[in-house]
Amino acid sequence: MRVTARGAERWARGHPWIYRSDVTGGAGVAGLVRVEDPRGRFIGQALSSPASEIRLRLLERTDRRVDRGWWREQIAAAADRRRGIDADAWRGVHGEGDGLPSLIIDRYDRWVVAQFLSAGLETMRDDLLGAIDDVLSPAGVLLRHDVPVRRREGLPSEPELVVGEVPDQIEVREGAVRYLAAPWTGQKTGAFLDQRPNRVLAGQLARPGGRALDCFAYHGSFALHLARHAAHVLALDASTAALERVAANAALNNLTNIEAREADAFEALRGFARGSERFDTIVLDPPAFAKSRASVPDALRGYREINLRAMRCLAPGGILVTASCSFHVRLPEFLRMLADAAADSGRRLALLRVLGQSEDHPELLTVPETGYLKGAVLQAYDVSSR
Ligand SMILES: C[S@@+](CC[C@H](N)C(=O)[O-])C[C@H]1O[C@@H](n2cnc3c(N)ncnc32)[C@H](O)[C@@H]1O
Repeated sequence: MRVTARGAERWARGHPWIYRSDVTGGAGVAGLVRVEDPRGRFIGQALSSPASEIRLRLLERTDRRVDRGWWREQIAAAADRRRGIDADAWRGVHGEGDGLPSLIIDRYDRWVVAQFLSAGLETMRDDLLGAIDDVLSPAGVLLRHDVPVRRREGLPSEPELVVGEVPDQIEVREGAVRYLAAPWTGQKTGAFLDQRPNRVLAGQLARPGGRALDCFAYHGSFALHLARHAAHVLALDASTAALERVAANAALNNLTNIEAREADAFEALRGFARGSERFDTIVLDPPAFAKSRASVPDALRGYREINLRAMRCLAPGGILVTASCSFHVRLPEFLRMLADAAADSGRRLALLRVLGQSEDHPELLTVPETGYLKGAVLQAYDVSSR
């Protein structure tokens, strides 16, 4: 396929996507294609997706054959970069972040949950599954293909078991806690692996013997880490099913100090802020409020509201761990929103740490789309300590 000078320039500058408008010639089929610049020079091999605005995704800059052995090398290299992770659930391949566009491979103990997110990648399925087996030797492989992006690529979008058996729930360890991942039905591929080090950090920062609040708790993964130190953890979520998992995960860790409560976090925070209840540690990990660039102003208002309320609910010296997984809300905007909320909160808040996604979700500097999770750790400094 042939691309414009602008398309070729994107690859030269480290971004793997070439849009439809920069493709000038070539067949409209899905699969691996050779790509040339406007002067006919070979510039790489790409995954081609005829139905997608992202028409080409760079896979290999040389003319080396892309086969099972090639995939084996790439997946092994990605696994090698993740050596030393203190958990048995982690992301083994983070798509573009690992130079393997549209491929997600998550590891849950002995099992693999993967996603092939482009029509081009789908054509390489047999080699890919072979390579996953060669490198990771999983007991089972589930494809969580029930995602809208597959529909947009014109691909079937149902979960598919392709190797062995994958249980409904898998018990995994994360630092000092254990939790049950839900590979078939859970969000993402069964758990939010991207927050792993932030959860461990939140546990370390929780005041021993204090009161903690985990808003937007999902399966309680933050709450479990908090509960190892805090006297009491209130875990809030709007989903009954998620709260059942909080209870199961608490029991798995013999923790009796987690209270799982069904609630709208916005309303609950408003109530706490008006009343006298205060918390030593608060975690805010909401779903993505901004689904598009156009919804960023509304999203920022939502983030501002929950952060402002949470700041007001902090006990003196209290810690707020706050995050946003909206790709469209970038880190500078997020920090500005926090500064605005702090200014209105009447509290003096110190920025102790800026957070990102875990290292098994690598964010490439030249590919902003690989990074979406950002966060901060704030501490309320008391007026009396001025
Ligand atoms: C990003 S997930 C949280 C992930 C979790 N902190 C973890 O580390 O596994 C967001 C959660 O917020 C919940 N949620 C969405 N809107 C909510 C609301 N208004 N109030 C409370 N929970 C809400 C969803 O049910 C979902 O479980």
